[in-house]
Amino acid sequence: MTVAKRIDGKAKAAELAESITRDTAALMDEHGIKPGLAVVIIGEDPASQVYVRNKKRTAESCGFHSVQHTLDADASQPDVLTLIDQLNNDNAIHGILVQLPLPGHLDEQAITQAIAPSKDVDGFHFVNIGKLTAGQTSDAFVPCTPAGCMLMIEDELGNDLSGKNAVVIGRSNIVGKPMASLLLQANATVTITHSRTRDLSQVVAAADIVIAAVGRPDMVKADWVKPGAVVIDVGINRVEKIVDGESKMGLTGDVDFDDVCTVAAAVTPVPGGVGPMTITMLMANTLRSARLTAGLDG
Ligand code: GUN
Repeated sequence: MTVAKRIDGKAKAAELAESITRDTAALMDEHGIKPGLAVVIIGEDPASQVYVRNKKRTAESCGFHSVQHTLDADASQPDVLTLIDQLNNDNAIHGILVQLPLPGHLDEQAITQAIAPSKDVDGFHFVNIGKLTAGQTSDAFVPCTPAGCMLMIEDELGNDLSGKNAVVIGRSNIVGKPMASLLLQANATVTITHSRTRDLSQVVAAADIVIAAVGRPDMVKADWVKPGAVVIDVGINRVEKIVDGESKMGLTGDVDFDDVCTVAAAVTPVPGGVGPMTITMLMANTLRSARLTAGLDG
């Protein structure tokens, strides 16, 4: 029985963070510029609080100027837009991220589109989406999760995915759609699947590269996966696990890791795969933004 390589996203993210930290120190020494990241969190969503804490901690460890704005769950749309306007005009801030999901009364579209495209380190602004879709990634911000997935895919298969079939499971704006654009740009033949796709397991079985981003615990099984495929698990599902006879809450992905490892060539674990890479790509985007505002290469 084959056993797939476990792709160590945590180690790769730590390596990248070291190089970002070095480049940040050089930007400060040579140009007196410190990358600034502002993270806005609205309300009390516990998962969002954990993500935001991790982003702040990583930004600080890279040597960034890091600020967090915490607004009450009942903050109004004008409150949020006023804050974004201030951050858009703050020269010490190069990247702005509003943590999603937002409380239901807020207009997510209007809020993400209010962020200046040049500070949109999430890559959610229509200008950045348009550039990515048109293949103009040299001056676009690419959403962090797909950007991190792409680096791990390139490590396994190289930069040119000509002749490879890639199947993306999930059509979200944050992951599925930008992931498909990146894969297409790397010459893969790309299929996006979603809840209305028929015979999903058969579509996945044709894939050399599988990206699972649906939010269904352990959905992708070994008998869906082509032998030798590279499988990237974007899912972060909170589930009850039995450890030593005791019930505990734990994280699991959209891929049944142990099962899929018996057929795939390489699989990302959850936790320790895509998650740490996403945070590091946010730092990479913020450093890039700071360099671009200084007139340097991104
Ligand atoms: N919530 C879950 N993932 C993300 C992300 O990549 N960016 C933002 N802003 N919110 C998120």
